[in-house]
Amino acid sequence: MKIHETVAGLRAGVSNAGRVVLVPTMGNLHDGHISLMRQAQDYGDTVLVSIFVNRLQFRPGEDFEKYPRTFAADCERLVAAGVDHLFFPAESEMYPTPQRYFVMPPAELIDILEGEFRPDHFRGVATVVMKLFSITQPQVAVFGKKDYQQMLVLSNMARDLALPVDIVAAETVRAADGLALSSRNGFLSAQERTEAPRLHRLLEGVRQAIQAGERDYARLERAAITELAAHGWVPDYVSVRQRSNLQPPSTGDSELVVLGAARLGTTRLIDNLEI
Ligand code: PAF
Repeated sequence: MKIHETVAGLRAGVSNAGRVVLVPTMGNLHDGHISLMRQAQDYGDTVLVSIFVNRLQFRPGEDFEKYPRTFAADCERLVAAGVDHLFFPAESEMYPTPQRYFVMPPAELIDILEGEFRPDHFRGVATVVMKLFSITQPQVAVFGKKDYQQMLVLSNMARDLALPVDIVAAETVRAADGLALSSRNGFLSAQERTEAPRLHRLLEGVRQAIQAGERDYARLERAAITELAAHGWVPDYVSVRQRSNLQPPSTGDSELVVLGAARLGTTRLIDNLEI
């Protein structure tokens, strides 16, 4: 695996690499990321991974400083997964001057759900991903459905700006007990780790109820939130939405997704299930 720390080095390194598939990450790689990389191999000739913890998408007081940086272990995993190139820029390489140009996704998509609790988050995500696309010029980019709203923001960005990149949405990878794999799971204490799969179980309950014909989404959402709170969580939302635009469903809408976010101790977990 070739490691590139500069934009110039990366561009030279992949200039004759055929169809490049980019998997952007912030590192601290787990099996969910590795599954994205294995899927990436099916979409092109060269798999390029980026590792960059993007300050722009964190608000003051969030976990930017303590976000785990595990470069040596990440490299071992990437080599074992057969990744061809790694782009690992320092902050001074990505943002040599303060970033003054931003990608602003539409408010109706980014002021809801995650955006309600993390203002400016998706502006930071869209901006860094646009910049990564500009630097690496991939033909394909792979994002996980675990961050469902992010995946939608980025695929809409590629469509609306006619970017020459195909976006692939990859399925969420889960532990045997259902917990969606996430870098933030590492912050959970042993006791919290035992409790954590409840979020997925409750979303699964909502999905099954809807599949069985229940249409009172608000009641299902309230019941799941109450259950989380009763077990020590601080829920931000559990919400049934349309898959295509994350707006509340109307009667008759069938392509749905249920999304949830809640804090367990100091760790904020998110998850979702398509219905
Ligand atoms: O999902 C992530 O890890 C990040 O939000 C991303 C897409 C790499 C942008 O920093």
